[in-house]
Amino acid sequence: MNVLVIGSGGREHAIIYKISQSPKVKKIYCAPGNAGIKDLAVCVDISVEDIEGLLKFAKENKIDLTIVGPEVPLVLGIVDEFQSNGLKIFGPNKECSRLEGSKAYTKEFLIRHNIPTAKYEEYTDFKKAEENIDKFGYPVVLKADGLAAGKGVVIPQAKEEAMVALEEMMKEKKFGQAGSKVVIEEYLTGIEASILCFVDGKTIIPMVSAQDYKKVYDKDRGPNTGGMGSYSPSFLDNEKFQEEIQKIILNPIIEGFKKDKLDFKGILFIGLMITNEGIKVLEFNVRFGDPETQAILPRLKTDLIDIIESIIGEKLDTQPILWKEEKTVCVVIASGGYPENYEKEKVIHGLDEIKDSIVFHAGTKEVDGEVLTNGGRVLGVMAYGKTVEEARERVYRDVSKISFEDMHYRKDIGKVITPA
Ligand code: AMP
Ligand code: GLY
Repeated sequence: MNVLVIGSGGREHAIIYKISQSPKVKKIYCAPGNAGIKDLAVCVDISVEDIEGLLKFAKENKIDLTIVGPEVPLVLGIVDEFQSNGLKIFGPNKECSRLEGSKAYTKEFLIRHNIPTAKYEEYTDFKKAEENIDKFGYPVVLKADGLAAGKGVVIPQAKEEAMVALEEMMKEKKFGQAGSKVVIEEYLTGIEASILCFVDGKTIIPMVSAQDYKKVYDKDRGPNTGGMGSYSPSFLDNEKFQEEIQKIILNPIIEGFKKDKLDFKGILFIGLMITNEGIKVLEFNVRFGDPETQAILPRLKTDLIDIIESIIGEKLDTQPILWKEEKTVCVVIASGGYPENYEKEKVIHGLDEIKDSIVFHAGTKEVDGEVLTNGGRVLGVMAYGKTVEEARERVYRDVSKISFEDMHYRKDIGKVITPA
């Protein structure tokens, strides 16, 4: 079959790496792709937001299956659009994608189905929000309701700071329309974890676990990023957590989908906080996580295309899903300055010397045979090991062979995180 993958990050490179091993796949296209994806797929210069352009391309190139990487096209309704044109596409429809596209929608879903989550209130009126900002004490969590490229959550430590953030969101429209509605939420303390699931509307099956590192610097210091590295499995890989997650989170989610008549087909990413009062849901994403995927998919033994087809055909309950015993660690190499301002077009050296790892490209492009940086997160270097520790040693040996001006990466990815 001909497959089109939408996106240009490390996540999409990992998806393409995996499906390129499928005997069912003849040709892979990627829109828009990057310098690493180019080795496995034909990259086409269509933006992930250009739904009409993607649809036209899929029709003209006889695409049998489209796999959507990032959230933006999902929230824009690409799945409904492709399906109404008779095209097969993998990802949740527009209504279900609101579980990532609207924080308030997600909170309402969680509360309605008794799924543990932080207390919250939602506001569209600035004055009312201002009057109630103290309700949950400090620090407090303010969330722009809509998509804000991962920047729409702020955690002010005191009232003054909270008022500034609220004004920026609601009045100055720092995040555009995303901030027209704001969720004010109780601040939870604990350890963050996540679990990615395959969902076909009737059945929800968690993947092996993976740990992400959100802060830019070692020991979780500095501002939040899209994710600086990952390893699999995480501390969630034990019976106690798995049973609890199944019972208090996964079962109510799938029952909630059925009750609400939400035909969710795709990947559900559940962000969790492990608190002293139990496990709570922080957020949903309606797609593979980045960089969790770069640690998870290399461990998948089963053909990903088979799993995707069983989800689209609502046969996930009978689909075998097998995983490798080997563990993985993925280290993200970022541009100097990321997650704030950074420069692009630095020449990347050393890629040819990597032997023991797989390099997933993110913000890269090829110009005249040279690979240049083209984004904040540039590469994700992933290695296997019998243990996470072995994978960690291997991956850092390879990371040290790569260089570009001002690059930086965390040195503590794969140091195992466990709740106290
Ligand atoms: P979200 O996009 O909702 O996951 O929020 C982004 C980040 O903000 C999360 O990964 C957490 O680090 C943090 N966060 C979100 N909600 C809360 C909360 N209620 N308490 C503490 N931290 C939170
Ligand atoms: N790593 C978190 C995310 O993909 O949103």
